[in-house]
Amino acid sequence: MKVFVTGGAGFIGSAFVRMMLGATSATRLINFDKLTYAGNLENLASVANDPRYRFVQGDICDANLVNEVVEAERPDVIVNFAAESHVDRSILSPTPVFETNLRGTFTLLEAARTHKTPRFLHVSTDEVYGSIDAPHDADENYPLKASSPYSASKAGSDLLALSYFVTYKMPVTVTRASNNYGPFQFPEKLIPLMISNAFEDKALPIYGDGMQIRDWLYVDDHCRAILAVIERGREGEVYNIGGSRSLPNVDVVHKILDAVGKPYSLMQTVTDRPGHDRRYALSSEKVMRETGWAASQRFEEGLKATIDWYRQNAAWVARVKSGEYQRYYENNYANRAV
Ligand code: NAD
Ligand code: TYD
Repeated sequence: MKVFVTGGAGFIGSAFVRMMLGATSATRLINFDKLTYAGNLENLASVANDPRYRFVQGDICDANLVNEVVEAERPDVIVNFAAESHVDRSILSPTPVFETNLRGTFTLLEAARTHKTPRFLHVSTDEVYGSIDAPHDADENYPLKASSPYSASKAGSDLLALSYFVTYKMPVTVTRASNNYGPFQFPEKLIPLMISNAFEDKALPIYGDGMQIRDWLYVDDHCRAILAVIERGREGEVYNIGGSRSLPNVDVVHKILDAVGKPYSLMQTVTDRPGHDRRYALSSEKVMRETGWAASQRFEEGLKATIDWYRQNAAWVARVKSGEYQRYYENNYANRAV
């Protein structure tokens, strides 16, 4: 399989690239990535010299470059991971979110239409369903009710991708995963931020009462599910991919502090995120039934492996937390203490 991945230098995209080149499923893999603050070629050091691998630095909104590479490579599948992926940044600065997540997805769909790419997988999120009242789990027919610029842009790009199936009969499939965690995640997201702050004895900022619920999925389980959907999923369909482990944020943070041996007093309540969704919970019954995939990583073990990785990769953390990260942290967290 000849695979064209966008956003392959980010957290989930790089795990997918490492899996595809490690498992030898890919005969060729093109990674098309702009290298924003979240893109990091260090994440791909283990595959950089693989003869099947090609890296192209580019913006998915750049139609000329996207077309040039798709025409030259003629991939069997395009997997679109590239996105502005963080809710808090989308609140502070929505413009790049709409450019990349909407216009970028449109540009890729148009290139796939022009070059008749045999398969297009658009990677999306459970956040498109908005907050889900207990005890329900959202299945793929649950109404879309996005709360943040990030989730609205993902919902819009999902609908755009699916419209290409309906209108142009293009072989498009959408996956919607729950919150991912694991090695190489940028420390703006809950789990790596709390781990790295705890290591440094810095305050752990808890939004509001910390009782918001997220369904945690280990990144390698997510990547296996994406491959299962490429191989066995149906065109024109949406597949939810959840970790089946729903926990309130405070429980996750307690587990991290227990594991690193730091006191709960490091936790600091801060002003809540505007439009904060209370609960995400997914039904993954469809992807399990149709592809045979199931999440295999227990949360406690996955969390331990993740904490070990951050402990052993302090230099990676120090590099990504320097420069731009400091400005973002100040912008998002200054004057937020309650
Ligand atoms: P990330 O922020 O770690 O990485 C995003 C990557 O996309 C980076 O390498 C960045 O350089 C690249 N990129 C951004 N804008 C680009 C552009 N205009 N052109 C080309 N490349 C660009 O994101 P992630 O957490 O790995 O998420 C990957 C995908 O999975 C996203 O589509 C996201 O919406 C989705 N998703 C993420 C989660 C999660 O918990 N992180 C859960 C469900 C779905
Ligand atoms: P996050 O990792 O940003 O993912 P998402 O918003 O996509 O679910 O946040 C996960 C949860 O953790 C969410 O309820 C917000 C909360 N949170 C905090 O309480 N403090 C923080 O500093 C961050 C980044 C998140």
